[in-house]
Order: sequence, then structure tokens, then C-alpha cells
Amino acid sequence: MKLVFATNNPNKLKEVQAKLPQYEIVSLKELGVTEDIPETGDTLEENALIKARYLYEKFRLDCFADDTGLEIEALNNEPGVYSARYAGGERSADANMDKVLTKLDGKTNRKARFRTTIALIQNGKETLMEGIIEGKIIETKIGKGGFGYDPIFVANGFDITFAEMDMETKNRISHRGLAVDKLVGVLGE
Ligand code: IMP
Repeated sequence: MKLVFATNNPNKLKEVQAKLPQYEIVSLKELGVTEDIPETGDTLEENALIKARYLYEKFRLDCFADDTGLEIEALNNEPGVYSARYAGGERSADANMDKVLTKLDGKTNRKARFRTTIALIQNGKETLMEGIIEGKIIETKIGKGGFGYDPIFVANGFDITFAEMDMETKNRISHRGLAVDKLVGVLGE
């Protein structure tokens, strides 16, 4: 059974394929989709739905799309839906982290969470799922692994950043891992 995942990110594809062996997970590239699907929504949910609907309209295949954001309590849940391009269009992880650290300078509330939403369309029926990991933003970047905001995020119950964590542990506890587990549950019903 084919299931289209609205991504070309090899790490995401591998992670999802490992958890759904009964499906053939198909990437955008394999479908020949070369254009960027517009992410014009104001929320993570809207963006995930926009991407999934775009593919469903075009191919009529079961499909899902994800969207993730870092939500920082003291910044009114910024950068949220704008996480990838927080410091500007060039999508630089370093510049994004610097912007967060500057905005949080002197603030004692460092609470933050990563939130992933997944929109699944199966036989035309839409289902939304989410995965959340709570934690905090530390004051400097630590660690070389991971991507995005990993060097400044420490999950509750841990004393190392996501960038210091081995990938297997991160995938098990992370926002995306939790959202994918819910997807697996829904697909297995
Ligand atoms: P996407 O929706 O998965 O493309 O994520 C949007 C943006 O959120 C990324 O460009 C990163 O800046 C950030 N992000 C998503 N997941 C993670 C993560 O696991 N660690 C750190 N940053 C992340």
C-alpha cells in the first residue's frame, strides 16, 4: 500500500518508513513533484492541511504532511509557524537561534515546546494529529548534532540539548516521533 509523505527530507522519510513497514512511503521526488508547495497558513495545522490537500487533489493517493514549530511561552509562542524563517528568508539555523537568544535575553521564563502537527488524508477523510515535547531554551548553543533549534533546546527531564542527544533517543521522545506514533496508531485502526 502506497502512502505519500509530503517531504523530500531523507531523515524524516527513514524515520516514518521504519515505523510503518506495511506501507510503501512515497516521497515528493518519487511522485515527480518539484515545485514548492506553498505554506501560506497562519497555523501549523493549516499548513499541514494545505500540503496534504494539494497532494490529494493532484494524485488521489492516501497522503500526509507535517509542519513543526518551536513555541516559546515568553514570546507569545513565537517563532511557531515561522520557525524555519524566523530571522529572514535565508532560513539560517544560526541566525534563527541568535534571534531567539536575543529576544529572551534577561527573561527568566525560558519555557518552550516543539509541536508537530500531521494532517493525514486517507480515502478522502482528513485527520489531524499532534506531538508535543516540553522543555526550555538555554542561554548558549551547545552540541553539534541535530538541526534547527536543537543546540538551544533542552527537553524536560534531560540535562543535555537535543543537539547533544543521539538521534535514536531524540526520535523516540521528540515532537515528531510522538506525532508519527499517533499516525501509526490511526493507520493501524
Ligand atoms: P518543518 O515543519 O519540519 O520543516 O520544521 C520547521 C522548522 O522548525 C525547521 O526549519 C526548524 O527550524 C524547526 N524544527 C523542526 N523540527 C525541529 C527539531 O527537531 N529540532 C530543531 N528544530 C526543529
